[in-house]
Amino acid sequence: MNTSNRPDLSARQILSLLALIAAVALITLAWPDMPAPGSTLGQGAAAFGALLLLAPLAFTLMKRSGLAASPPAWFVAHVVATSLGICLIFLHVAAGNWLTPAGLVLLCLVFLVFQGGIMRSFIADEFALLFARTSAAQGFTAPARLDKTVLQAVIDAKTALLRRLDPAADESLFSPALKHWFGSPLLSLRYQLLADREAGLVGARASAGGGLRWWRRLHMLVALAFYAGLVAHVIVMLFFAGYAAGDGPIDWWHITAWGR
Ligand code: HEM
Repeated sequence: MNTSNRPDLSARQILSLLALIAAVALITLAWPDMPAPGSTLGQGAAAFGALLLLAPLAFTLMKRSGLAASPPAWFVAHVVATSLGICLIFLHVAAGNWLTPAGLVLLCLVFLVFQGGIMRSFIADEFALLFARTSAAQGFTAPARLDKTVLQAVIDAKTALLRRLDPAADESLFSPALKHWFGSPLLSLRYQLLADREAGLVGARASAGGGLRWWRRLHMLVALAFYAGLVAHVIVMLFFAGYAAGDGPIDWWHITAWGR
């Protein structure tokens, strides 16, 4: 964590976490007597790991609802919880067969952790600004011909709108959260359009928007695929255990053996 009030993870801390995760992966794979995925230990590790892997859902909800007092703390929680979670999942899968549909879910998870780590470590400065959720591009490179009069007019319009939308908020740090979109959708839309216009004027889109936006979208898209796969895997193993086991024995805790 850094020394300021805002919790964060430095690039070094993130890279150390990734190295630790890679080490756990190698050790669990190389270990000769790892428990079967469906054994008590294997299934227990999966259950705890999956619970920890739900942290990003809490993070996105807290961040986007405007409920969190400190969204960066939720960011740190999502990184730490998923790092622990993936280690438990490695325990679960070490002795298993990865060339199955469940192997694809694992692939998504490994991708998320390493892509997230790279995104956070190498584009860190841009994130510092995105965390503030502002469209005012302090620190971004302004284009050569910046029309300051138009920019000031846009900022004034934003400030006036914000007085109606959220009087306590600070224009330089504000962007509409879920509660604003639900409570005043039209005002929120007008505010967002002005914020986009401001970003276009000062060139924020071109710097932070470009690469980083796609990295974040990819991260969220793969997260969606991962959660869909995780839910499908849990349903199949617990309810369609007969189908999952094929002709072999069902040697894991399950609820029904449909599919046999
Ligand atoms: C070491 C592990 C990870 C790192 C370093 C990491 C990094 C990041 C970063 C930098 C963001 C963008 C933060 C922001 O825009 O506020 C993010 C967002 C997110 N991450 Fe991760 N991530 C990791 C693991 C995961 C995993 C395993 C999942 C899913 C299981 C996940 C799901 C999400 C989601 C859903 C968001 C979107 C939050 C939002 O903007 O609403 N992350 N992550």
